[in-house]
Amino acid sequence: MDLARIEQHKATFSSSILDCIGNTPLVKFNNINIDSRTNIYAKLEFLNPSGSIKDRVAQYILNNAERNGLLKPGQLIVESTSGNMGLSFAMLSAVKGYKCVFALPETISKEKIRALKLFGAEVVLTPRGLPYSDEKSCYKVAQKIAGDKNGFYINQYFNILNPEAHYFTTGPEIWEQTDGMVDVVLCGIGTGGTISGVGKYLKEKNPEIKIIGVEPVGSVFRDFFREGILVKEGHFEVEGIGKNFIPGVLDFNYIDEIVQISDDQSFKTVNDLINLEGVFAGGSGGAAVGAALNYAVTNNKDINIVTILPDTGMKYLSKLKD
Ligand SMILES: Cc1ncc(COP(=O)(O)O)c(C=O)c1O
Repeated sequence: MDLARIEQHKATFSSSILDCIGNTPLVKFNNINIDSRTNIYAKLEFLNPSGSIKDRVAQYILNNAERNGLLKPGQLIVESTSGNMGLSFAMLSAVKGYKCVFALPETISKEKIRALKLFGAEVVLTPRGLPYSDEKSCYKVAQKIAGDKNGFYINQYFNILNPEAHYFTTGPEIWEQTDGMVDVVLCGIGTGGTISGVGKYLKEKNPEIKIIGVEPVGSVFRDFFREGILVKEGHFEVEGIGKNFIPGVLDFNYIDEIVQISDDQSFKTVNDLINLEGVFAGGSGGAAVGAALNYAVTNNKDINIVTILPDTGMKYLSKLKD
């Protein structure tokens, strides 16, 4: 191949799959919110190479570990994950020669589990809904494996590099892509890494920007944010957002409000996005856009809302309804 010629096409040429992480498009919706004066945009994070926003965090953590000599060649990487962070590390490990073990709640979609295995990762399934401190929870299982096998433990719920990755990438991209004209960001909360990093960056640029967290009905963040009480977790189906404990990286200082959304509305919005916008997002993206539509209907102002679509609905084909 003539590399000089390829260089001329820099916009579409990457010397490695890892160079394709980040810089995702921001897309305006034109049909889903036809009744409102509010513009709704979405950051298409499913266009990252392993299909989710977590590629940004995994790359940032791995680069940091390699730079600081914390990871040895071929070492085992261990994490508890709802699948996407695992897929990001599995993809990076395929390129860089690390091994991976992931502890996942057993209710995670078949598609994500199969993809992890195809990437060569070992998968340990754990019961769903256990408290963080329960030794059978995915968090404690991952910690134990890391300890027993001298693994490098990612610890995304308490690793400050998680929000930092978004502070240095996702936040600036949203600011630049909107030319600073963003009024509201609606973003699902899982670890809280995305909302905390994006929120910090955008509030430093303009404290008037509203940062609104989105979680499924049954998750504990909203009540903790509003009243400081940790309620008992209820059941929800949407993957990746909502928890029964407060992650260490979730920084409420950069959040103005947290709203809840039903599984039904999240999944209906996934279908509407497919049929009205041609956008195939996962359930947490459906939740963020559903919450944006609720916000637009309630406020009906000439404003720009940015939502984040963390992954693709293709990872949940076996769970989505027609
Ligand atoms: C599908 C999906 N949506 C949303 C999130 C939440 O992102 P964050 O962990 O940055 O809060 C995750 C995180 O695991 C996810 O996998």
